[in-house]
Amino acid sequence: MSKEIIRSIKGTQDILPDKSNRWQALESTIHKTASKYGYKEIRTPAFERTELFSRSVGEETDIVSKEMYSWIDQGGEKLTLKPELTASVARAYIQHNLGGLRPVNKLYYIDALFRRERPQKGRYRQFHQFGVEAFGSEHPEVDAEVIALALSIFNSIGLDELQLKLNSIGSPQCRKDYRDAIREFLKPHFSNLSETSQKRFNNNPLRILDTKVPQEISILEDAPNISNYWTDDDKVHFEELLTYLDYINIDYKLTPRLVRGLDYYTRTTFEITSSKLGAQDAICGGGRYDGLVESLGGKPTPGIGFAAGMERILLAMNKDSSKNSQVQIYIVGIGQSVQSAIIKLAEDLRRINIATEFDVIRRSLKAQLREANKIGAKYALLIGDQELKSKSVELKNLSSGDQEKVELNKIIEHMNSLSY
Ligand code: HAM
Repeated sequence: MSKEIIRSIKGTQDILPDKSNRWQALESTIHKTASKYGYKEIRTPAFERTELFSRSVGEETDIVSKEMYSWIDQGGEKLTLKPELTASVARAYIQHNLGGLRPVNKLYYIDALFRRERPQKGRYRQFHQFGVEAFGSEHPEVDAEVIALALSIFNSIGLDELQLKLNSIGSPQCRKDYRDAIREFLKPHFSNLSETSQKRFNNNPLRILDTKVPQEISILEDAPNISNYWTDDDKVHFEELLTYLDYINIDYKLTPRLVRGLDYYTRTTFEITSSKLGAQDAICGGGRYDGLVESLGGKPTPGIGFAAGMERILLAMNKDSSKNSQVQIYIVGIGQSVQSAIIKLAEDLRRINIATEFDVIRRSLKAQLREANKIGAKYALLIGDQELKSKSVELKNLSSGDQEKVELNKIIEHMNSLSY
């Protein structure tokens, strides 16, 4: 009787070998660019205490109220698989007193996150983010640097048709006043609001600004603008940021309704969207969180960061930028007596950093050549009894078809002299 196969969980994905090179290319660009900007990598555990997220991201947010994978472990602790990284990084920053070691800490990460959302294209239950968090400066220089870093990564991997949406949601006092103003404005429209928005009216009225319901969008057209509630310092901060962005030629679209769905934000908020994606078009979201470290028990420390969804980036990227095989040489063996010579040759080539593969299922010459082409090898190295006897091999350039005889004991030297 055949056994039923076990499938992966809905909303999770396997990254199969034909896709992993695109992930590696993206990861390598992230590491290079982050280090160019002076950011250092931080890695945090896959799960944390549930309280970390309820206190920082906020009880009333979608993430905390309905999307977290949480459980009580055998020791009675309430634990949660990370739904985002800013809270974990802030926790680590406080726990290891990074702020005491240096005034400014610029950190970046690449990690897997978990949210129980309704899966669709670009929205998964396990997904990956890269992001940065810069602690220690309240000044808009860092806001500009963080935005420039995100765009630099997107430009390096050839992402275009992007739009930077920018807003400031001001200091806590500004947000409190604005929240009251939005409530006041929406009161006469309450009965026309969706059930979700009616709930948000009390708990988190700013989230209503995020609505996708057409009727609510039209109600909100005349809603008060947050800029009228900025303090003088909020205004100066935002204007300075705009000056810096203009100065480094970064285009932005002022988006007064961009409030973002997490509670820790203060002042600058931003999103980068791609017109190449459908409904889930935000490839990156971020902002300032000047009160976060303090709210988690640390010393008052300003901070700003962003995170970008890697699955979405890859969806928006040109597919053919991934066509790049690692394999430079495929050794084609003719007859079985050559196997030990092939194993040795492959090891010698790998030792001088030439990627090399050979056939391990003893296929015919024709099938081996087909495989060499299929995996994108640059050269096929043909070796049979006759070649062994004459201590030479045939080296075939698979793109030009040119073939030459090379002495076996000169092959390493010869390959080294070729440019790849
Ligand atoms: P977020 O807006 O929740 O912000 O997520 C950032 C990005 O992660 C989104 O723009 C999207 O590209 C990706 N993303 C989110 N949820 C999913 C999902 N279910 N499937 C696929 N991709 C997804 C944060 O997480 C903040 N921690 C960002 C931040 C860092 N703010 C300051 N520092």
